[in-house]
Amino acid sequence: MEHVNDSVVSEFVLLGLARSLGMQLFLFLFFSLFYVGALLGNLFIVFAVIVDPPLHSPMYILLANLSLVDLGLASTTVPRALSDLLTARTLISFHSCMAQMFFIHVMGGVEMVLLIAMAYDRYTAICRPLHYLTVMSSRTCVLLVAAAWATGVIHAVSQFIFVINLPFCGPNNVGSFYCDFPRVIKLACTDTYRLEFVVTANSGFISMGTFFSLMVSYAFILVTVRQHSSSALSKACVTLSAHITVVVMFFTPCMFLYVWPFPTQSLDTFFAIVDFVVTPVLNPTIYTLRNKDMKLAIRRLGRQVVGSRETSP
Ligand SMILES: *[C@@H]1O[C@H](CO)[C@@H](O)[C@H](O)[C@H]1NC(C)=O
Repeated sequence: MEHVNDSVVSEFVLLGLARSLGMQLFLFLFFSLFYVGALLGNLFIVFAVIVDPPLHSPMYILLANLSLVDLGLASTTVPRALSDLLTARTLISFHSCMAQMFFIHVMGGVEMVLLIAMAYDRYTAICRPLHYLTVMSSRTCVLLVAAAWATGVIHAVSQFIFVINLPFCGPNNVGSFYCDFPRVIKLACTDTYRLEFVVTANSGFISMGTFFSLMVSYAFILVTVRQHSSSALSKACVTLSAHITVVVMFFTPCMFLYVWPFPTQSLDTFFAIVDFVVTPVLNPTIYTLRNKDMKLAIRRLGRQVVGSRETSP
């Protein structure tokens, strides 16, 4: 604890994304379009699942939860990045930086467990259809969602407690457009080798392990589907390919950001943008555009809106 008084850093310097006015404008438009898209798309899914009874099944309840978390994940970085682009500011206060890291990992952890829960839901529906209703009861659903949030908080806290006590005494250039553990730890004035390992293990190896287990599970489900009738096959394949796309889009950046041993600024920035800006839009897009139930729900909701407008004077 003797280091605490050395903590003189009260602000960190973030990486400015834009090097020219044109770039600034382009990135601002790109980020805001995707953020508004994520906002509308995900809120629509949550709304549809809440008000439309046919969507009250575990698959869609988990999907709505995933939408909320996607929104949360995008909101940890994108609004801040937007305001930084607008003001060309690159400073972030110590506390905002810490808060940002914390919430990124809470949301990331929740999202990871929700993706596992969704795979488990599909596994039960396709491989053990007779047990589906008993296994995926609403109680299981609540438990899975609670487990996701508990895991997210534990995952974030278990890294955060190490970092909050680190002495920061001089270098304060984070080198990316948001704060995250791997970059911020490197700025501490102490030997952080072991801590870097904790973060790599806690964020990197866990995402790698989860990713490969999910891929194996989906392969297993696909093999099972092949043995069934062809109409079941095509419907399941659409759902499964949506799940697999989301899993790949979410975990590839995670693995690069936390495990790849030779980080470069441009690659890091690219993958961070994929995870925080692109993936949150992708989820509602592929679920609403490719999913028959969702399309039917949109039509039903549309009719209700039109209907209520016609009956009201
Ligand atoms: C998230 O999951 C919980 C537990 O199953 C459920 O009660 C809740 O309605 C879900 N949230 C949304 C937005 O659907």
